[in-house]
Amino acid sequence: MSGTRRLMPRLGWDDGFALGEQQMDLAHREFVDCVDALLTSNDEALEVALAVFERHARTHFAQEEEAMRSSRYDSARCHVEEHAAVLESLRQVKAALVQGRTEVVRAFAVALADWFPGHTEVMDKGLASWLARQRWGGTPMAVTRAIGAAPSRVGGPRRPVHAEA
Ligand SMILES: [Fe+2]
Ligand SMILES: [Fe+2]
Repeated sequence: MSGTRRLMPRLGWDDGFALGEQQMDLAHREFVDCVDALLTSNDEALEVALAVFERHARTHFAQEEEAMRSSRYDSARCHVEEHAAVLESLRQVKAALVQGRTEVVRAFAVALADWFPGHTEVMDKGLASWLARQRWGGTPMAVTRAIGAAPSRVGGPRRPVHAEA
């Protein structure tokens, strides 16, 4: 890390991410944790955080893509392409880290935190609705908070804040 003190971007869970599909919601909570770990790791921990993120992302995306295949989801193409684009970026980021370019990993983590809300709101929500319609003939309902429960989101805005001008 440089000697300059910077605001650290964070990604925290937001109940607005919940889709009402249990497997997807669990994967998304894990995604948020993995990305936040990438955002907050020091240089020495970045390689492990990136490996954990990769393991998570491959499983997460494969689960969704299997759900698309098995349910004959008719809007799968763009969704699968977005997943593939993330994995391709990850491949390049891993190569950069081998060369010691930690700033590339940090930029990737910020990009992931920025990408996730939109992907979830559009692509994953569309899939969740499709799965619920296939199963029950309805749209999934996300029950996210009990009365009186503390908000589960921590760590600031769900979109990262760039400290640099
Ligand atoms: Fe997802
Ligand atoms: Fe997805």
